[in-house]
Amino acid sequence: MRVTLQGIGKSYPTQGGGTFVALENVSLEIREGEFLALIGVSGCGKSTLLELIAGLQTPTAGTIAFDGIPHVGPHPRVSVVFQEDSTFPWKTVAGNIGFGLEMRGADPKARARRVEAMIDLVGLRGFEDRYPHQLSGGMRQRVAIGRTLVLDPAILLMDEPFGALDEQTRFLLGEELLRIWRESGATVVFVTHSLHEAVQLADRIAVIAPRPGRIVRIIDNDLSRPRRESHEAERYGAMIEELRVLLGLEGNREQTRA
Ligand SMILES: Nc1ncnc2c1ncn2[C@@H]1O[C@H](COP(=O)(O)OP(=O)(O)O)[C@@H](O)[C@H]1O
Ligand SMILES: [Mg+2]
Repeated sequence: MRVTLQGIGKSYPTQGGGTFVALENVSLEIREGEFLALIGVSGCGKSTLLELIAGLQTPTAGTIAFDGIPHVGPHPRVSVVFQEDSTFPWKTVAGNIGFGLEMRGADPKARARRVEAMIDLVGLRGFEDRYPHQLSGGMRQRVAIGRTLVLDPAILLMDEPFGALDEQTRFLLGEELLRIWRESGATVVFVTHSLHEAVQLADRIAVIAPRPGRIVRIIDNDLSRPRRESHEAERYGAMIEELRVLLGLEGNREQTRA
């Protein structure tokens, strides 16, 4: 499913009676099946943009269309995975993954089959009967991805889903996510403030500048996978550098690793 954002703005009233402009005139075409990253410094409006696409917030200007059809509010084929652990602690891995299907009233046999397939897809075979507290942070995020994907979303929105994980786990889970993305055929919109994560994962990187939040550049990423600093070092480095300049991080090497 294709998503068209046309002139999207989002403002909030401030206490003094003024308005705070979180996003201004964001126009963007999200292509069917692509892996798009939204990158920007903290507070630039990334989560707001994602929540607008998810229909969890309403824009104060502009329109959002799915396959050309304007839409307001949550769309049944659009799902979100958040950074914070969103698993149910009282349900097992299989119970968590099957929950959405249960809510939709899916036939128990069909449900069990889909849960089984999803457990394999997200790499949790052997952990079906564990509870979230018996899993690592990375495995809990696999559960969160599985319980969302099992509903077969056309668009998967992810808001810094690996932000709480260490760098190595993050890289490995990113590679897993790429495999899952290819197998599922979903369109992924992935919010991050990590330059390396954006370059590792996305085909296109939309750079958001703050105050007011707006898209300043969309970068095509055609580096060969798996993308690591050590492969294609020169082109990889050039892309990171371009992002750093666009984000105003020149001279501040620390922030590129966040
Ligand atoms: N409900 C709200 N009311 C007022 N301001 C908000 C609200 N939600 C977000 N903001 C402001 O909008 C800006 C963008 O926030 P957010 O989208 O969360 O940024 P990011 O995800 O890029 O860190 C921030 O300055 C934030 O304080
Ligand atoms: Mg955010």
